[in-house]
Amino acid sequence: MGALDGKIAVVTGGSTGIGFAIAERFASEGAEVVIAGRRQQRLEDAAARIGRGARGVVTDVGDDAQVKRLIDSVPRVDLLVTCAGGAVFGAVDSVPSQSWRALFNDRFFGQLSACHYAVPKMAPGSAIILCSGIAGHTALVNYSGGAGLCGAVNAMGRSLSVELAPKGIRVNVLSPGLTRDTAIDWGVPQEQVGAFLDALVSKVPLKKPGTVRDMADAAYFLATCAYATGQVIDIDGGWTAGA
Ligand SMILES: NC(=O)c1ccc[n+]([C@@H]2O[C@H](COP(=O)([O-])OP(=O)(O)OC[C@H]3O[C@@H](n4cnc5c(N)ncnc54)[C@H](OP(=O)(O)O)[C@@H]3O)[C@@H](O)[C@H]2O)c1
Repeated sequence: MGALDGKIAVVTGGSTGIGFAIAERFASEGAEVVIAGRRQQRLEDAAARIGRGARGVVTDVGDDAQVKRLIDSVPRVDLLVTCAGGAVFGAVDSVPSQSWRALFNDRFFGQLSACHYAVPKMAPGSAIILCSGIAGHTALVNYSGGAGLCGAVNAMGRSLSVELAPKGIRVNVLSPGLTRDTAIDWGVPQEQVGAFLDALVSKVPLKKPGTVRDMADAAYFLATCAYATGQVIDIDGGWTAGA
């Protein structure tokens, strides 16, 4: 018997990284998992690794019609987790401004649209887990657009939690700190990634990056704690506490 037996979980960005680890964890607890991402092969590989009937639905969360199609593919939604999207790193005067618009399209409007289509299919006891990042709480150099995005998602999550409480739907935000073993593009040449990450780790009181398993532990808590709603949970090795 798993804690999520009989639940249907939709996890966007579930083909790699944090979303994959959450999907894998939920499936191991008995949930029927549907993962979404843009690349079919990645989805198929991920679904095969997760096993337990997991399946992928090719979805670009920046396209509202595709988000609708994703939610249409399930009879109901017990758990909605929205991890899809990337990051935009770079100095404010060097990053192409269009990339911030694309970032918000995928990671803000993508998450909001998923809620829009999923809520009518969510019964009392269901839960939504949005994904932001600690830049919503603490300044990260060369990450101004991402910081704004994270703050916007945090605000959206708090507002939705109050709006949806009468329906018995809980809403929380997972706010990861530096997390390793993901496919995220750090915006620096491959040979500089090590030094880039070392510089970030130096800001972390625990002096190490988080793992995708750490993020999945937090998501599992948010999925199962019936009294947790309206929270933004920073899983960051103490970064925001020490900043
Ligand atoms: N890693 C960190 O340190 C960290 C810290 C704070 C916040 N975050 C955030 O956490 C989330 C997950 O990141 P991650 O590190 O696990 O990165 P990741 O391994 O690159 O995972 C991103 C996932 O999102 C999917 N995706 C990207 N754009 C999409 C789109 N437009 N439509 C649908 N799916 C899309 C990717 O698959 P396809 O590319 O095939 O679509 C992949 O499944 C991201 O929003 C990231 O910004 C990460």
